[in-house]
Amino acid sequence: MTQLDAAKHIERGPALSTAPGARSGGTALKLTGINKSFPQRDGGRLEVLRDIDLSVRSGAIQALLGRSGSGKSTLLNIVSGLTPADTGTVTVDGKDFTGGTVLPMVGYVFQDDRLMPWRTARANIAFALENQPLDSNERAEEVSEMLTLVGLDGFGAAYPNELSGGMRSRVALARSLVRRPKLLLMDEPFSRLDEETRTAMHEEIIRLRDLLGMTILFVTHDVEEAAVLADEVTVLAPRPGRIAETVDIAAALPQHPPLRDGTDPAVVEIIRQLKCTIARVSAQSDARS
Ligand SMILES: Nc1ncnc2c1ncn2[C@@H]1O[C@H](COP(=O)(O)OP(=O)(O)O)[C@@H](O)[C@H]1O
Ligand SMILES: [Mg+2]
Repeated sequence: MTQLDAAKHIERGPALSTAPGARSGGTALKLTGINKSFPQRDGGRLEVLRDIDLSVRSGAIQALLGRSGSGKSTLLNIVSGLTPADTGTVTVDGKDFTGGTVLPMVGYVFQDDRLMPWRTARANIAFALENQPLDSNERAEEVSEMLTLVGLDGFGAAYPNELSGGMRSRVALARSLVRRPKLLLMDEPFSRLDEETRTAMHEEIIRLRDLLGMTILFVTHDVEEAAVLADEVTVLAPRPGRIAETVDIAAALPQHPPLRDGTDPAVVEIIRQLKCTIARVSAQSDARS
């Protein structure tokens, strides 16, 4: 094995050979006692997150569900290391990463896809490999593999404005996967897609999770999205964001290949319960403010 191969091997880890599924045990991500506030113009501070404790099982798809302003994006930024927490710890695969910079083993799909319009799909994906110990052939190979993996064979030369919303999502996904993260963070990634395309992307996420052996933490305000896609849903109460309730959906309704059916009565019932929880915790915060 050359040095480059070795580096690549370490970077990738065993991800491609494993498909642990939601029940493999072990904790991929653990947040303990996370608090975060931001300074405000009037000199005060806005408390955004309070006492967040969260464990995500290895191989699970975990949803964080909460209404707008409940601190979901801030929490993902803290996990990724982009934003430091005021207090608390972030542990990934048993290692303490509190206050670390963007973790090499974490992929992040932002809410707006943040594709660079002046770069082709290929060049957007390759961007995530800059600073990696790869020569140009290896880089091209990695990008080609990713394009295939997300179903974009033949579209590498297209610019973002030449792609549909679903295809842009696939490019953003490929960019966040090309470094083979163990943990994928997604911030309302499909909120701007039409329903059919969103469902296709949900199926894609399940497939890629199984293929690449990842753990996924995604945030959404879409109750149905959480109910069809997630193994476990954590509901955030707003202002400040606090964990109100966690529902183990996989225990009640194992993921039904390729995806849970949003019209299945059991899923409809979970959606109803989650909506009730959100309404209850929102009403409680409104009553306090
Ligand atoms: N960098 C920042 N500086 C000041 N306030 C911020 C900053 N980032 C987020 N906020 C505030 O924190 C609150 C939660 O924001 P956010 O995490 O984006 O919520 P969500 O993603 O759930 O909609 C909002 O009131 C927002 O205005
Ligand atoms: Mg947000």
